Amino acid sequence: MKENYKVGIIGATGMVGQRFITLLHDHPWYTIEVLAASPRSAGKKYTEAVGAKWAMDEEIPASVADMVVMDASADIEKIASMVDFVFCAVDMKKDEIRALEEAYAKAECPVVSNNSAHRHTPDVPMIIPEINADHAEIINAQKKRLGTKRGFISVKSNCSLQSYVPALHPLMKYGITKVLATTYQAISGAGKTFETWPEMVDNMIPYIGGEEEKSEVEPLKIWGKIEGDKIVDATEPKITTQCLRVPVSNGHMAAVFVSFDKKPEIDEIKKAWAEFAGEPQALNLPHAPKQFLNYFEEDNRPQSKLDRMMEGGMAVSIGRLRPDTQYDYKFVCLSHNTLRGAAGGAVLMAELLTAKGYMD
Ligand SMILES: NC(=O)c1ccc[n+]([C@@H]2O[C@H](COP(=O)([O-])OP(=O)(O)OC[C@H]3O[C@@H](n4cnc5c(N)ncnc54)[C@H](OP(=O)(O)O)[C@@H]3O)[C@@H](O)[C@H]2O)c1
Repeated sequence: MKENYKVGIIGATGMVGQRFITLLHDHPWYTIEVLAASPRSAGKKYTEAVGAKWAMDEEIPASVADMVVMDASADIEKIASMVDFVFCAVDMKKDEIRALEEAYAKAECPVVSNNSAHRHTPDVPMIIPEINADHAEIINAQKKRLGTKRGFISVKSNCSLQSYVPALHPLMKYGITKVLATTYQAISGAGKTFETWPEMVDNMIPYIGGEEEKSEVEPLKIWGKIEGDKIVDATEPKITTQCLRVPVSNGHMAAVFVSFDKKPEIDEIKKAWAEFAGEPQALNLPHAPKQFLNYFEEDNRPQSKLDRMMEGGMAVSIGRLRPDTQYDYKFVCLSHNTLRGAAGGAVLMAELLTAKGYMD
């Protein structure tokens, strides 16, 4: 590992891009060297380009305020020569994002992506660092396909599943047979605030385009296995979901029902959650929560407002574990959708890949 890595943020003016800036401007390993966005922003100072779209609680960090925004598509070669790797979160058509990310990888610039475009490319790992850090090994096969020495793409999963997949993972040893999850998703997941989406005040919307499919299918890649030059998806457990938009600024909650082959006792489940840790904890990565899964005994927890910022928004909180009449058990869980569920999860993935030597 080097002492410092230069990074770029592609889509720096967006909601996720802004979050990257707040997480990276004082990062112990990384220095923000490049900010890039669409031709609409290119050539402007960051403060001017982001303008009133800045939605973070903190001010724009002084180190990036006057940086001139580059053109994410026109300046690929130049950006690739200036940085060690890029984070990418852009609002473009899927095939355009696929091409953009491959172009960076082929310019020998690794891409840590929040976009969904490459989530189902079989040699692109989709990593939740505590769960499937070993999937990073597929990067060698991907580099071979792309014909690159160090360029590759690694992606983050959708924010909706970021609470219940971690909660279910330590219970896989009991043979999970089926899962039903209803998610209650915050408006920041749509890149919105109550100012920009006043219709969401005192309202719920029972549909989020494409979200239920992602919530059911993506976990199977995360629980999949590397076979040769691809990741083969798991076939179990069967998951069914409903995803609702709720009037909450940040934090996706899930109500989960689960059945097992070898039904554990309630205390065994709580112990599995309390004891669970992954590579980020073992490696002591800068954004790793000390305790990833946190169980509350109180009936009225976790709550979005009280618990979403646990461990800097990187931990998952769980509560209300109890027997069910149709399934073995039910519980609720919560994760911060723009931190663990988006930019924070991507930063942790980058830290994992850096510690494993993929960014050198
Ligand atoms: N919001 C979340 O919590 C969340 C969670 C997980 C994943 N994601 C994914 O992350 C991505 C970004 O989401 P967001 O909420 O940050 O979107 P957003 O706020 O709408 O920001 C979009 C960003 O993309 C840039 N962009 C648009 N067209 C472009 C082009 N032709 N070339 C280069 N850059 C272009 C924009 O630049 P300009 O300002 O110059 O237009 C802006 O920086 C999406 O793929 C989304 O699905 C979001």
